[in-house]
Amino acid sequence: MHWNAVAGRFTPPARLAVIGDPIGHSRSPQMHNPALQECGIEAQYIRVQVPVGRVAEAFRQFAASGFLGVNITIPHKFEALDAVDVLDPLARQLGAVNTLAIRAGKLHGFNSDGPGFLRSVKEAFGADIQDLRVLILGAGGGAGRAVAVQSALSGCRKLLLVNRSQAKAEAVATEILALNFQPDVSVVPWQDDALHAALATTDLIVNATSLGMKPADAKLLPADALLPRHLVFDMVYRADSETPLLADARQAGARTVDGLSLLLHQGAISFEHWFDRPAPLNVMRDGLQNAARS
Ligand SMILES: NC(=O)c1ccc[n+]([C@@H]2O[C@H](COP(=O)([O-])OP(=O)(O)OC[C@H]3O[C@@H](n4cnc5c(N)ncnc54)[C@H](OP(=O)(O)O)[C@@H]3O)[C@@H](O)[C@H]2O)c1
Repeated sequence: MHWNAVAGRFTPPARLAVIGDPIGHSRSPQMHNPALQECGIEAQYIRVQVPVGRVAEAFRQFAASGFLGVNITIPHKFEALDAVDVLDPLARQLGAVNTLAIRAGKLHGFNSDGPGFLRSVKEAFGADIQDLRVLILGAGGGAGRAVAVQSALSGCRKLLLVNRSQAKAEAVATEILALNFQPDVSVVPWQDDALHAALATTDLIVNATSLGMKPADAKLLPADALLPRHLVFDMVYRADSETPLLADARQAGARTVDGLSLLLHQGAISFEHWFDRPAPLNVMRDGLQNAARS
């Protein structure tokens, strides 16, 4: 990493960043830079590619260069857990850090994906998670685990965990059961008959797998298992069209939302951690929509 080249060439100065590897696809700058401008904050938000194994070093360099905060994306959200000085209890429970706030030289780690998911569900469907029976596809991955634990912590009515490698979903279920309450959580095998039965008692379906980016990706669910009363949340988003899951869901008469909504709400919560003020949500939403069109 050539640090001076990264941090020194921006006007207004770079004070916020998103790190990942790769990182060129991230739309976070198009969401945060208009927000900074709207709030009269003399700072710029940039993308920085950081290789695996160098997150702690990058955090120290950000702090030494006067940065205020950082977002962390794939594949660094777990490495970041051990690279902060102060870990927020929710981030510990969700098992990932996606927001770093640098305060008086100290590195504070947060997770805004879990709370961002709750805000997305509320905005898209007008629903509170505690009223919903939730089925998560990809519950054994990083995002799926975070959404599963967040749903359990927030008191969802029932939690159904599905993962290609079932042992990983079972490990998440065990972790959730070890939390200090007794949620209704079970693991569903990824088989058509089991999914049909589970979806008959599900309100909110979440895709937290990495499938759906490409038209050739395998179907996640049998299309005839989708019902008009389902709320379908795809964490994946595509610039050019709907994901196959959302297309099937809409066809079935279900209500849908894609991953841009989560990107927006997790970003707004990161902004709140950095600046201790509400984020200009509509400006951020416009920024994301403009980026999606370009
Ligand atoms: N919109 C947002 O702001 C936002 C935020 C976070 C994540 N995401 C998206 O969420 C997705 C997951 O991210 P992550 O960080 O959780 O990744 P991850 O930790 O690598 O997990 C990937 C998940 O996808 C499953 N999977 C991969 N290929 C599969 C296949 N062919 N068939 C069935 N399942 C398959 C994996 O199952 P196995 O365990 O069996 O491998 C695992 O559950 C990504 O697309 C990411 O972009 C979006």
